Amino acid sequence: MRLFRDAGHLFRLAGLFAFGTLFILTIRSFLVPRTFGEYGHYRGAAIAEVAAHPARFAGHQTCETCHTDVAQTKAAGKHAQVNCEACHGPQAKHADDPSSVDPGKPDTAVLCVRCHEASAARPKDFPQVNAGDHSGGVPCQTCHQPHSPAIGSASAPASAAGGTK
Ligand code: HEC
Ligand code: HEC
Ligand code: HEC
Ligand code: HEC
Repeated sequence: MRLFRDAGHLFRLAGLFAFGTLFILTIRSFLVPRTFGEYGHYRGAAIAEVAAHPARFAGHQTCETCHTDVAQTKAAGKHAQVNCEACHGPQAKHADDPSSVDPGKPDTAVLCVRCHEASAARPKDFPQVNAGDHSGGVPCQTCHQPHSPAIGSASAPASAAGGTK
């Protein structure tokens, strides 16, 4: 028993560690959400919660049932393959209740360059312009009708007839 003669402080220290470990495990059992680790290193229930969010996109078929004129203009132009909500953003709320939710009009100074600003990263045959030089700061829709943007197409704004100013 000589070995443990002066070991009292070691036992106290071990007791402290045991208590500390238990204390932390207890707190952890309250703090860590129950579904943590169900699928991986995150809270499993998060998936069901995200899936339960209401849809934000209505889909272009829905827009077209009311905005038939826009749909026709667009189908005949160069933007035929660009969907409504790619430009107008998610508008399910407007489609559900058009009289109280106004979708507003996209700001072409921000919108058009997102796809058309000249960049070496785009396919060479994709129409692209250096917006600053090309438009001289004039809003794109002064010359291009957004739903049928090619200059000289039937629905182009009258101001654009005859080309650049
Ligand atoms: C149930 C019919 C209906 C559906 C579906 C609908 N809209 Fe509308 N929308 C309207 C009405 C009504 C107005 C207001 C009158 C107007 O300007 O034509 C309007 C106005 C707009 C405006 C003009 C806002 C402004 O400030 O001038 C935009 C842009 C628009 N809708 C986009 C969309 C898009 C994109 C979709 C599809 C996600 C869509 N709408 C679906 C009925 C609808
Ligand atoms: C390439 C982008 C783009 C696409 C695709 C697009 N829009 Fe627009 N739309 C615009 C812009 C930009 C304006 C605002 C023009 C302005 O400020 O004069 C606008 C305006 C409108 C307006 C207001 C009335 C008008 O004609 O100015 C309606 C309604 C509308 N869009 C509906 C639609 C619907 C429905 C679709 C799909 C069938 C669609 N848009 C597809 C860019 C787009
Ligand atoms: C989501 C991407 C997208 C946005 C935003 C967009 N466009 Fe386009 N645009 C396209 C695609 C795709 C085409 C078709 C390209 C093709 O035919 O190879 C096109 C074609 C065009 C053309 C026809 C070029 C030609 O061949 O004569 C013009 C002009 C144009 N867009 C102008 C605009 C303007 C102005 C706006 C803003 C109102 C705009 N675009 C917004 C994707 C976009
Ligand atoms: C002052 C009138 C005017 C304004 C403003 C204008 N454009 Fe144009 N844009 C034209 C004309 C005219 C053409 C066709 C002749 C040409 O290819 O230069 C054209 C052609 C284009 C093309 C097709 C280029 C190609 O290689 O086929 C794109 C894309 C385009 N414009 C995008 C835009 C965008 C984006 C804006 C806004 C930042 C804008 N335009 C503002 C007059 C204008």
